[in-house]
Amino acid sequence: MNRRVGVLISGRGSNLQALIDAIAAGRLDAAIALVRELRARDVGLVCLAGFMRLVGTPLIDAFPNRILNIHPSLLPAFPGLDAQKQAIEHGVKVSGVTVHLVTAALDGGPIVVQRAVPVMPGDTADRLAARILEEEHRAYPDAVRLILDGGWRVEDRRFVAG
Ligand code: GRF
Repeated sequence: MNRRVGVLISGRGSNLQALIDAIAAGRLDAAIALVRELRARDVGLVCLAGFMRLVGTPLIDAFPNRILNIHPSLLPAFPGLDAQKQAIEHGVKVSGVTVHLVTAALDGGPIVVQRAVPVMPGDTADRLAARILEEEHRAYPDAVRLILDGGWRVEDRRFVAG
């Protein structure tokens, strides 16, 4: 597919940086086309990278199965805000990261990549978040590569790799 990637962020931007670094290092064959004004710039794939708002139906309809989001938990556990704090408060022993296709359901689209991250004794939400973030920076470029390379399909709510 079209390998020009649009990235939406609203915060710190470290996942955007991880994508830029993976491209620069030759680990991901893609181009960051822009961070906004997607269609006008012929974007093929939209990456939400710390975009802390719901994506509206017009964008989802304009890019069906062409919007990725990264979430700092093993979905469907702990959707929404403060996923790492939710994990600590629940007392889970393992959390992680999920990269998924965006649908109208909050953090509910087909799962492309998931990686587990252990919760250590005495972890705070911040310490867990930092450990998960390291895994996010590996998982997101991997997921973008999978999507851009094609040969996958969505069956019911399942992402099936080629
Ligand atoms: C990440 O933890 C991401 O999973 C969540 O928001 C955070 C964004 O971090 N949705 P950054 O702006 O990419 O550093």
